[in-house]
Amino acid sequence: MNEAANQSINVVGGSGGGATPLPPRTLVEIAQLGKTYPTPVGPSEVVRDFTLHVRQGEFVCIVGHSGCGKSTVLSIIMGLNPPTTGGVVIGGREVSGPGTDRGVVFQSATLLPWLSVRDNVRLSLGQVRPGAVAADADPYLDAVGLPGQGNRYPRELSAGMQQRVGIARAFALEPRLLLLDEPFSLLDALTRMDLQDQLMTLWEAERKTVIMVTHDVDEALFLADRIVMMTSGPAATVGEILAVSFPRPRRREEILSTSEYFELRDQVVGFLEECANVRA
Ligand SMILES: Nc1ncnc2c1ncn2[C@@H]1O[C@H](COP(=O)(O)OP(=O)(O)OP(=O)(O)O)[C@@H](O)[C@H]1O
Ligand SMILES: [Mg+2]
Repeated sequence: MNEAANQSINVVGGSGGGATPLPPRTLVEIAQLGKTYPTPVGPSEVVRDFTLHVRQGEFVCIVGHSGCGKSTVLSIIMGLNPPTTGGVVIGGREVSGPGTDRGVVFQSATLLPWLSVRDNVRLSLGQVRPGAVAADADPYLDAVGLPGQGNRYPRELSAGMQQRVGIARAFALEPRLLLLDEPFSLLDALTRMDLQDQLMTLWEAERKTVIMVTHDVDEALFLADRIVMMTSGPAATVGEILAVSFPRPRRREEILSTSEYFELRDQVVGFLEECANVRA
C-alpha cells in the first residue's frame, strides 16, 4: 500500500506501538453544503448547511430517513451533482466533477454485461494504470472473495457476487476515498453480513477513507468510526454525530456482547424515531 494509507493506520489506530500517534488529518471537508432542486411546483430545498470533516482513514456512515438527502450529499461528493451552496474539498482540491480519486459503489453493481468480470475490473484499473492487462484485475477479485471467477460474465453471477465485483472495481482505482451508497441493501441478510465482513477486512488492510450511506443501524455500528445522523427534510442537515469506538479488528459477536452496543443502537434508533415524530 502507499505511504499515505500506512500513515493513516497510525492516525486512526492510535496504538502505534508506543510511538506518538500522528495527529488526525482531514481528508474531506464538506462545508455548508446545500442543495435545492427545481421542481414543477417551485424550488425544493433538500439539504441545507451540511458541514462535516472526515479524517484520512476514517470510516463514516451516514444514516437518516428515506428521502432526507443522503444520496444527494453523496452524489455531490462524487462530483455527479453540483451543490447549490457550499462545497466539498478533498485533499485540498475542490470537487468540480467525478474523478479517479473516488471509488463509488451503488446499490446495484451496474457491471458492463458484455465484458467478463475480469475485464470489468480491468476497465477501472486502466483509468489509473494505463496498459493494465486483464490479469492485473485478479488480485482485486481475490481480495473480494472471487478467486478464479474472472472469466465469468455478470449474468452468471448472483447479486452478491456482482456486488463483490463492484467493490473490486472501486478498489481497483486505488482511490483515496470510497463512497458507498447503500451497497448491500438489496442483498439477503447472510450475504450482506458476508460482504460487510469482506469490506471490513479490506478496509482494515488498506485504511481507505470511507463515507457510506446505509439504512442499517447494525451495519453502521459494525463498520463505522462515526455515525452521522441526518435530520429529516426538507432542508435536512447533520443532526447528531455518534463516535463508535469498538476496538479493531472488530468481530460481530464480540461487539454484540457489549452493553455499549445496545446503548449506541438506542441512541441512533432514538434519533431516527424523533425525526419521524417531527416529520409526522
Ligand atoms: N434530481 C432531482 N430533482 C428533484 N428532486 C430530487 C432530485 N433528486 C432527488 N430529489 C429529491 O430530493 C430528496 C432527497 O433525495 P435523496 O435521493 O438524496 O434521498 P435519500 O436520503 O438518499 O433517500 P433514500 O434513503 O430513499 O435513498 C427526495 O425528496 C427526492 O425526491
Ligand atoms: Mg438514497
